Amino acid sequence: MHGQHPAPEAVIVHLSDTHLLAGGAPLAGLVDTEGHLRDVAARLGVAARDADVIVVSGDVADRGEPEAYALAREILEPVAAALGVPIAWAAGNHDERAPMRAALGLPGEGAAPIDHVLDLGRLRIVVLDSSLPGWHHGGFDPGQDAWLDAALADPPELGTLLVVHHPPLPYRSRLMRLLEFRDEARLAELVRDRGVRAILSGHLHIDGSGTLAGVPVVLAGATSYADDLGGPPPAMHGIDAAQTFTLLEVYADRVAHSVVPALPHPSRESIPAELAERLAAMDPAERAERFSRKPD
Ligand SMILES: [Fe+2]
Ligand SMILES: [Fe+2]
Repeated sequence: MHGQHPAPEAVIVHLSDTHLLAGGAPLAGLVDTEGHLRDVAARLGVAARDADVIVVSGDVADRGEPEAYALAREILEPVAAALGVPIAWAAGNHDERAPMRAALGLPGEGAAPIDHVLDLGRLRIVVLDSSLPGWHHGGFDPGQDAWLDAALADPPELGTLLVVHHPPLPYRSRLMRLLEFRDEARLAELVRDRGVRAILSGHLHIDGSGTLAGVPVVLAGATSYADDLGGPPPAMHGIDAAQTFTLLEVYADRVAHSVVPALPHPSRESIPAELAERLAAMDPAERAERFSRKPD
């Protein structure tokens, strides 16, 4: 069923900040990050049957342990295989390049930036490593400029999605501003008018959005824990709640993103399946009468 819009040209599952520990140990002794990611995997199989790719925008592991990356693979690869889609992994400040690269089979050598490209035919996914070894703030080496410039050349029909762990935006969280992306001006010049449809980020453990050089910047919330911006400042308030992932739809002339609860919640069928099936069988005029018309 479609309204005035056709089906999207591409659908991107965007999740972030899984913060796994070896053996599925609870984060800070409290948060079941493994269980939360398993819930996400189960929900993806239902919510994203039309997906074209799964993007994981960094902080895959909390301490860069090889076993944590193995666990991420074990949880996400079966759902990716079931959906018939690849996974685009990005490094975050909690990741360690060498073990991440080795465990996830990513291109490049040792501790070099994990920059890579996934060619989806009509759409290109470019992953820029914004982690800086030894630091939690983000940026990229001048040596990565030429790589990114080449990776953005001759974009395909639907353009490019750029994945960068640290969002190139001003941050609402005063503490996270200390861990911001410090090479915004250089990135802005590299992406301006280059067919970049959106920049996909994480890092802040909140849902959010903004723009850089006219390009939408979309943040997926964390699957591990959220930063509660409603908590009293100046402390940071991590909550084992409000975990989310994002579904980004690419259309010919724009993108749209929707935020999905990462964990299951009690729910009821506010529109019963039986009514939805009857609507699907109607012609558009009948459907509008049945579903959109307000009673007198
Ligand atoms: Fe994170
Ligand atoms: Fe981060």
